[in-house]
Amino acid sequence: MRTVFDRTTINGLELANRLVRSATWEGLGAPDGSVTDRLVEVYRELAEGGVGLIITGYTAVRADGRQSATQLLADDDRLIPGLARIADAVHQRGGRVVAQIVHCGGQASRAATGLDPVAPSAVASPGYPEVPLALTPDGVNTLIAAFANAARRLKDAGYDGVQLHGAHGYLLAQFLSPSRNLRRDRWGGSLVNRSRFTLEVLAAVRAVVGAGWPVMIKLNANDFLEGSTTEADSTHLAAALAAAGIDAIEVSGGTGGSGKLGAARAGIESEADEAYFLPQAEAIRAAAPGVPLMLVGGVRSFEVAERVLGAGVADYLSMSRPLIREPDLPRRWAAGDRRRAACVSCSGCFGPARKGEGIRCVQERGQPDG
Ligand SMILES: Cc1cc2nc3c(=O)[nH]c(=O)nc-3n(C[C@H](O)[C@H](O)[C@H](O)COP(=O)(O)O)c2cc1C
Repeated sequence: MRTVFDRTTINGLELANRLVRSATWEGLGAPDGSVTDRLVEVYRELAEGGVGLIITGYTAVRADGRQSATQLLADDDRLIPGLARIADAVHQRGGRVVAQIVHCGGQASRAATGLDPVAPSAVASPGYPEVPLALTPDGVNTLIAAFANAARRLKDAGYDGVQLHGAHGYLLAQFLSPSRNLRRDRWGGSLVNRSRFTLEVLAAVRAVVGAGWPVMIKLNANDFLEGSTTEADSTHLAAALAAAGIDAIEVSGGTGGSGKLGAARAGIESEADEAYFLPQAEAIRAAAPGVPLMLVGGVRSFEVAERVLGAGVADYLSMSRPLIREPDLPRRWAAGDRRRAACVSCSGCFGPARKGEGIRCVQERGQPDG
């Protein structure tokens, strides 16, 4: 039976336990998208905290795919030495680090990038006022290549793998969504066509990085938006990703427009509130039974983590906000202090990052300000 402190491997990558730091924008990148000293510190501290796998904050594959001027970029070889500092800092402390790569598509910000956002169709995303430009077929192919080039740079920088950001309403999720992808070409219309972009990104990345380097995905099982992606769509894509050799699927849900049903929910007070994407994880598990599955969203208790693993629904439990407050939570649990994570799920950690100060827990300093 699976337990939290099992040692496992994902496509040859050895992990010390089944706890994952889910991708978390740090708000600490330099305006040119390069790595800063404070960012290296964040990752050093996380690695010292003992989490089995660290997934970095979403790193844009192209400048027009950014949401803020503090988001990392991997669009140029000049950024490789800085990116390598994060990988080195984690490895020096015995950790493992996978970079999350993203294009924010219609959820990118013209105000932040000075560039027009692009998306499958010229449809505004719920919660995001800007109307993006629809990608031409050449534009789609160029973007697929941008994902592959970014993955190659991250491999060169010494990362242990990449995670494609297919969740939370960003570009890959926009292609899958029936309400945001209104294309009539090979990337739109049928579920097979709406799945194609993500599968082509995976194939292009794989062609560049080779078979033995982990390529994972964070996938929205349900957007919780009227007319958008549901399990009817995501289970099809999960099965296709499994057939195409994805190395792990992290199950998430919601977008910036999903209100209370977003990715980072409030009010995780009892064990029953925890692991709120469990039903969606069960659906993805059934569709892609052989693929290592990570479950994110509201995991706060050691007991809940063990129960989910024991039931066989997931192979890994991912956390974001708890590790902002307590980067050493895995070490604490390993040492026998199994009390629940101190995180109160207020999401106040976004506040300082939006002000350019970088993420931090606001509880330790009093009331949430974000
Ligand atoms: C400050 C902050 C930044 C986040 N940045 C990302 C990100 O870059 N990529 C991503 O996939 N999810 C991001 N998320 C969502 C988390 O990875 C996670 O899916 C969500 O917070 C639910 O997990 P939790 O309850 O353990 O926090 C972010 C969440 C927070 C609070």
